[in-house]
Amino acid sequence: MATVDSGLGRRVLVIHGPNLNTLGEREPEIYGRTTLSEIDAELARLGGELGLAVESFQSNSEGALVDRIQAARGQCQALVINPAAYTHTSVAIRDAIALLGIPVIEVHLSNVYRREPFRHHSTIADVVDGRIMGFGPESYYLALRAAAALIASGRVASKER
Ligand code: DQA
Repeated sequence: MATVDSGLGRRVLVIHGPNLNTLGEREPEIYGRTTLSEIDAELARLGGELGLAVESFQSNSEGALVDRIQAARGQCQALVINPAAYTHTSVAIRDAIALLGIPVIEVHLSNVYRREPFRHHSTIADVVDGRIMGFGPESYYLALRAAAALIASGRVASKER
């Protein structure tokens, strides 16, 4: 998907989990009308402004998400991830994040705490550096800014501090 090469060699991977490919049509009263392509295009543009090369990846498959997280090792300087429904269930995604060793920001379009109780639990909450939710697509853009700040500060992932 969209990649902007800033020439600075700072790469941020943005991962979108299941059903996020249907953004724009899916429950618009919760998730809004912005499509995933529009979010990815804005992330790529904003990345250029922040001096980051942004690569976006979406999958509906838990294994494919784990594979992509593993492949980021040594290749990316930060990860922005919305695991979508897998947020609430996936030990495999949690374990992949825990061994990544780079700053990780968890993102949600909706404020999951204003929704059903089963959405209040995140398997990754304690292995990420920070969590941003409730601002629609802006959650992703804020997360990318946070990733830029963490990279610039030279901080390593929270589990290594
Ligand atoms: C979501 C919240 C999850 O509970 C849900 O399963 C999603 C999207 C969000 O971005 O608000 O698919 O991660």
